[in-house]
Parts: sequence; C-alpha cells; structure tokens
Amino acid sequence: MGSSCVVGLQWGDEAKGKIVDLLCDQHDVVVRYQGGANAGHTVVHEGVTYKLSLVPTGILRKGIDCVIGNGVVIHPPALLQEIDRLSAQGIDFGGRLHISDRAHVILPYHLAEERLTEESSSTADHLGTTLRGIGPCYRDKVGRVHGVRVIDLFHPAVFRDRLDRIINYKNRLLAAMLADFEPFDPRTVADEYLDDAETLRPFIRDTTAWLHQSLAHGKRLMFEGAQGSLLDIDHGSYPYVTSSNSSAAGIAAGSGVPTRHIDRWIGVVKAYTTRVGGGPFPTEQDNATGERIRRVGREYGTITGRPRRCGWFDAVAVRYSARVSGSTEIAIMLLDVLSGFDELKVAVAYEKNGQRIADLPASLADFDLCQPVYESLPGWSEDLTGVRHWSELPLNARNYVQFLAQQVGVPASIVSVGPDRRQTIMVAAGTRA
Ligand code: GDP
Ligand code: IMO
Ligand code: MG
Repeated sequence: MGSSCVVGLQWGDEAKGKIVDLLCDQHDVVVRYQGGANAGHTVVHEGVTYKLSLVPTGILRKGIDCVIGNGVVIHPPALLQEIDRLSAQGIDFGGRLHISDRAHVILPYHLAEERLTEESSSTADHLGTTLRGIGPCYRDKVGRVHGVRVIDLFHPAVFRDRLDRIINYKNRLLAAMLADFEPFDPRTVADEYLDDAETLRPFIRDTTAWLHQSLAHGKRLMFEGAQGSLLDIDHGSYPYVTSSNSSAAGIAAGSGVPTRHIDRWIGVVKAYTTRVGGGPFPTEQDNATGERIRRVGREYGTITGRPRRCGWFDAVAVRYSARVSGSTEIAIMLLDVLSGFDELKVAVAYEKNGQRIADLPASLADFDLCQPVYESLPGWSEDLTGVRHWSELPLNARNYVQFLAQQVGVPASIVSVGPDRRQTIMVAAGTRA
C-alpha cells in the first residue's frame, strides 16, 4: 500500500485527526495541503489529549515527517505558539517539520479585516468564520498585489519595503471603515515577522521538491485534509464555506504532488452531522435530539469552543462529497454517541416543491426549500465504547453502518466508538456493505 488521503466529507470536525493518527503506522509523511489555524484536530491516546491546528497530526508519532504545504496559510505567531504548546507536551519536532517556502503568510491586518466583516456588517453577511485571518489571506493570495509568501520573509529589505506599501493601503482602508481603528506600524509588524521567520528558518524549504524526493525513495505520504468537503470553496455550500479547496480537489494544487500517487482515498464522516458557523444544514435538529447529540458527543469547537449545530446523517450531502473527493472507503466516526436513541433517521433524498431531488442545489434559496426525506432505522441501547470487533457490535448498529455505506455508495472500512486510538473497529473487506 502506498500513499493515502484522509478528508472530511461533511462540514468539518469529522474526527479526521483520529484517523490520520491511526494510519500513521502505514505511512512515512503527513502533509497538510490547505487551510490554516482554522483547523482543530484532536487525538486522544492513553488519557492524553493533543490538539493540532496548523501542525500536521503526524507530529505526534515518532519517525513521521510532517509537511505544511504551499496551499496552507500560515500565521507565524500562531504556528510558533502551537509548536511551543506541543513541545511542552513532550512532542519532539527534531528535523521532522517541513514548511513550504511558497505558503502564504497571515498578517495582523488580515485578522482586522476579518473582524470587520464578521463583527461590523449586517447579520446577513456574517459567515461565522473562525476569525483566524484565513479568508482575507487567501483573498490577497488570489489578488496577488498584496500577497506575502514565506520566502518573502527571507529577503528582509524587499519585505520591509513591500510591507510599508501594503500596510499604508490597508491602514487607509480600515481607518475609513472602523471608528476606533489603531493603524498598524509597518516597522513593528516587519520586526515581529522577521524575528519569527528566523525561529522558523530551520523548517522552511521547497516542500514540493522534498515530497517528490520522498516519493522517489519509496516513502508513503498521507494527505491530511482540514475542514470538510462541504466547506470547499468550489464544491461546498457557497458562500458558507472556507476559502480553500478543502475536499480532495485541493491536494495537487496545495502540495505539488499529482494525485496519481494516491492509492487509498478515505472519506471521514460522523455517524450524524455537525456544522459550526452559518449556512444550510437540512438535517439540523434544533431541538432535544440535537441537544442530546451535542451533549453526548461533546460537540463544541476544538479551537473556538463554539457549540456545534447537530443533526441527523445527511446521505444526500455525503454522497455528493464522496464523489467530489473520490472516496473509495469511508470511516464512520462517533458511532457510540448514538447509543440510546430508539430510532435513528437518515436523509436519503431531498424534496423541493413536492419533487424528489438527489443532488445538492447550487443556490442557498433552493437549499432553504429542500426538505430532507428520512428513512428511520431502529437504534440500540448498548454502550459501544468497549467494542473492538465488528461482530461485537449490536445488530442494529451494524445495520445502521451498512445502511450509511449503501446510501453513500462507498464501503465503510473503519468504525470509531470513542476518541482513543484503541476505540476503533477495522471492518474486514468481506463484511463491508
Ligand atoms: P477533526 O477536526 O476532523 O480532526 O475533528 P475534531 O477533533 O475537531 O472533532 C472530533 C472530536 O471527536 C474530537 O474531540 C475527538 O476526540 C472526538 N472523537 C473522535 N472519534 C470519536 C468517537 O468515535 N467517539 C467519540 N465519542 N468521540 C470521538
Ligand atoms: P477542522 O479541520 C469545522 C468553518 C467555520 C465557518 C467556515 C469559514 O477542525 O474540521 P474560516 O475561518 O475557515 O474562514 O470559516 O468554515 N470551519 C470549520 N468548521 N471544522 C473546521 O476545521 C473548520 N474550519 C473552518 O466555522 O463556518
Ligand atoms: Mg476540528
């Protein structure tokens, strides 16, 4: 088995971190290819919880190399803080972290710009972002005139000169929009970023060249998606999405590695659905069912602490995202959270104006008109957290997993029944739906 990708098929927080950590045994390198510190991936092992944001999850495993690819957006102060935090937990970075010289840099004005749109505009324009500067940084990347890349921090004179012009422009814009705006001082910002760059210097390289060399030496790569396919800028529920290609579509662009190198295409889903921030969510349960899922599943944001919106599994949405992300197997996570429901519902289609539709609508207005068509399955009462083998799962739990796989059209290869690495069931190929 060679290289793999692990991507979320819902709106993020599908427990991708757990799967990446689990599969490290079969890989040599973990690669982040998009997003930034908006991600929050949790790994629990032997009672210790690790939270990863910008650093690839592979850093938790000795001997695994980790790449922050060109498609990621990096806020150096946040990255250094994360490195310090993980080091304090005993994680050894020794020569294992590789950061792309082409990745774009998040600057303080990006955070201010995001606060401006998220906090000062009318409620209708709020997206409910993570306020990590992700959108404004990608906007400058695509706009080109104001984009700053990691490599620029290693040409100090040019960087200072350019930052002077950029900050002059941003200050004028922000001052016009914000009453109490304190202008940014280009020299202070440049000093801080050049200092941080020196600390990061040993990690910086041409990661695309490094990855191709690794492949040539027979190394097995694992691409770790952040966010989820339904938050993809092109394929998600626009505009309530993130600003990168968070489906598998982003892998080649965000790492420089063609996807023909990937053998295993793993889509990660929760056994239900959650979403943080605004946007359509046809199967949302804004009621006792949703509250129960939130309570039992501890559905609060890893990074922002925001309560997640919760609802039933949406097979229409996952069928769509599994197609976009090319998933050939799915990992079904947090199955344990559903213990104790008499009845479980799964959306198998949407109905719009009395007509059944099988695909996701492009427009928000159409999304609003869609009513999920549910099929109900009997639940189970047993606690699943101690189950380690497929055959030990209650029949109704097995039927539920098989039903999800059939609806999505992709076999379930992994079932997770708790946050710990060991609370995992590998589904043998012969038993998959
Ligand atoms: P990610 O962003 O996709 O990596 O997911 P998050 O880490 O943001 O959210 C998943 C949460 O579920 C984390 O708190 C995990 O520790 C937890 N988790 C993972 N798998 C399971 C599981 O099977 N059961 C339960 N109860 N929790 C799980
Ligand atoms: P992981 O990798 C869940 C959501 C935000 C918001 C939208 C845009 O942990 O699954 P952004 O800050 O990216 O511009 O916000 O995307 N979002 C996530 N939701 N999990 C994430 O990451 C997310 N990253 C961003 O809540 O709705
Ligand atoms: Mg998360």
